[in-house]
Amino acid sequence: MPKILITGALGQIGSELVSALCERYGHQNVIATDIRSGSESVAPEDCSFEILNVNDASRLAELVSRHQVTTIYHLAAILSAMAEARPQDAWNINMNGLYNVLEVARQYHCAVFIPSSIGAFGASTPPDLTPQDTIQRPNTIYGVTKVAGELLCDYYFKRFGVDTRGVRYPGIISYKTPPGGGTTDYAVHIFYAAIKQKHYTCFLKPDTFLDMMYMPDAIRAAIDLMEADPACLKHRNAFNVTAMSVDPEMLAAEIRKHIPDFRMDYTIDPVRQSIADSWPNHIDDSAARVEWDWRPEYDLVTMTVDMLKQLLLKLQNAKC
Ligand code: SER
Repeated sequence: MPKILITGALGQIGSELVSALCERYGHQNVIATDIRSGSESVAPEDCSFEILNVNDASRLAELVSRHQVTTIYHLAAILSAMAEARPQDAWNINMNGLYNVLEVARQYHCAVFIPSSIGAFGASTPPDLTPQDTIQRPNTIYGVTKVAGELLCDYYFKRFGVDTRGVRYPGIISYKTPPGGGTTDYAVHIFYAAIKQKHYTCFLKPDTFLDMMYMPDAIRAAIDLMEADPACLKHRNAFNVTAMSVDPEMLAAEIRKHIPDFRMDYTIDPVRQSIADSWPNHIDDSAARVEWDWRPEYDLVTMTVDMLKQLLLKLQNAKC
């Protein structure tokens, strides 16, 4: 049974990965960590919780040693739009944090899951059916840290035998914990606004196509990849994974099937628009499908039905 430590456990993905890992491996085998405390999203009875700044290498080593950790899911990171506002912090957290995780994994023989992103691509990348192996010249600090991170993970595997694995996540749509500071965040905000105000002002242009995925698929991708037979993994780090390619108009039209008077207008944020314009419209995830049998379960139609249902329940419960 793996003994798992998660960084960034209170974030959008972390808060749901913790529950999934507890369910699969037992709460006694999961240690959730985050730079902050005080969220109900990781219930104390679920698993241990420890404060951890990923830039504090000795605290990280102490936790890995004390809990006899065998696997690290390293989710602590600054997302694309916030990274543009704070590039020095983004480098420090995304790069030096990853370096600390890889070093501790080398010393304590841990496996590592690390998310890369569609942000690892840039304007010179082929935007449609973007291949697994292609040009990666991102012009954002987020993208620079993601490409460097992919390479560093490959290096630690080849040079030191650290079992590093990862996926290039698209925008993740979920209802439990909101995302913070990403370019794809509109695809979550739109659902909250549709239910609460029946109106949303979108910060990306109507025809901005980006890959997206519903959270249950994102969680399954991480766990399935970590459980995959290593002999089958040719790429290992940074597998393209996607579930749908949508633009804001398509998402709004799908929501309108359930909330007919939902209206959307646009106030474009030039920073996030230029980031989105540099990312692919639709990536090709056939390497993940072949090498570890990746298949998304949710498409635009089924994701929208479930997202509206779950978010409505959540917002109703919050009012009680
Ligand atoms: N969702 C991320 C962002 O928008 C991309 O990986 O920054």
